[in-house]
Amino acid sequence: MAAHDGTLLTVTDLSFCIDRHHTIFDRVSFAVGRGSLTLLCGPNGSGKSLLMRIIKGLEKTSSGTIVLGGEDVTSSAKKRMRSVGLVFQDAETQVVGQSVEKDIRFGMENLGLGLDEQQRRLDEAATLLDLRRFLDRRPKTLSGGEKRRLAIAGVLVMQPEILILDEPFANLDWRSAVSVLTILLRLKDEGHTIILVSHEVEKTLAHADQVLVLDEGTLALSGSKESVYPKLTERGIFIPRGVAIEDLSWLKP
Ligand SMILES: Nc1ncnc2c1ncn2[C@@H]1O[C@H](COP(=O)(O)OP(=O)(O)OP(=O)(O)O)[C@@H](O)[C@H]1O
Ligand SMILES: [Mg+2]
Repeated sequence: MAAHDGTLLTVTDLSFCIDRHHTIFDRVSFAVGRGSLTLLCGPNGSGKSLLMRIIKGLEKTSSGTIVLGGEDVTSSAKKRMRSVGLVFQDAETQVVGQSVEKDIRFGMENLGLGLDEQQRRLDEAATLLDLRRFLDRRPKTLSGGEKRRLAIAGVLVMQPEILILDEPFANLDWRSAVSVLTILLRLKDEGHTIILVSHEVEKTLAHADQVLVLDEGTLALSGSKESVYPKLTERGIFIPRGVAIEDLSWLKP
């Protein structure tokens, strides 16, 4: 698909086979619009993280194509590494610097950004993610929620074209989850394109422009939240009865 039609990412017939007898998912196809928020869900082990790692360029696909901004980047993991920002499910493994500030600067230094630009992006991300008071701290001493915000900051300063967050609410208390979701929604308002991987569908569905459900080796459901909603329970996804879709949010306790 062309870049100007509002589509940023197009995944076509993507498969991942461990060997001839073992396929994790088969012929997954979907498109992500610029400035949209896609919610990817599905049971444990359905391949959500793997699919996102493939899109990022960390794993090779068995077959299929990935088009980003109108350009076929299937065989260019390097380009995907640059354009796709992925906040790992295990945020801890993403934290590398000796201090919070050094950690946020790490990727920007690799990109070869000038010091002024680094400082500008650092200031912006540290403010947005409420990390200013931690800049001199060793990342190891941060709490789980603080580490998650640090991991998001480290990815954001790279200014990726598409931002993927893999289970960003895992192990967060309600207040921290609200703060991460609020930041995501602010980024979306600013025009960022976001894929949110979360099994806590009952806390996120309200904000999704598109919902994808991976199950039993395929993309079992895809579409608007309204179209997917009635079929979620049969896919093993918990949705409380009698709650309006727009109330399925961390922001609506
Ligand atoms: N590089 C790999 N090689 C072989 N198998 C893999 C690889 N990566 C993941 N898998 C397997 O693929 C399946 C899907 O894993 P994945 O981590 O993507 O699941 P998930 O949907 O993210 O699950 P969860 O909800 O628990 O995070 C698992 O059975 C996993 O063991
Ligand atoms: Mg996962």
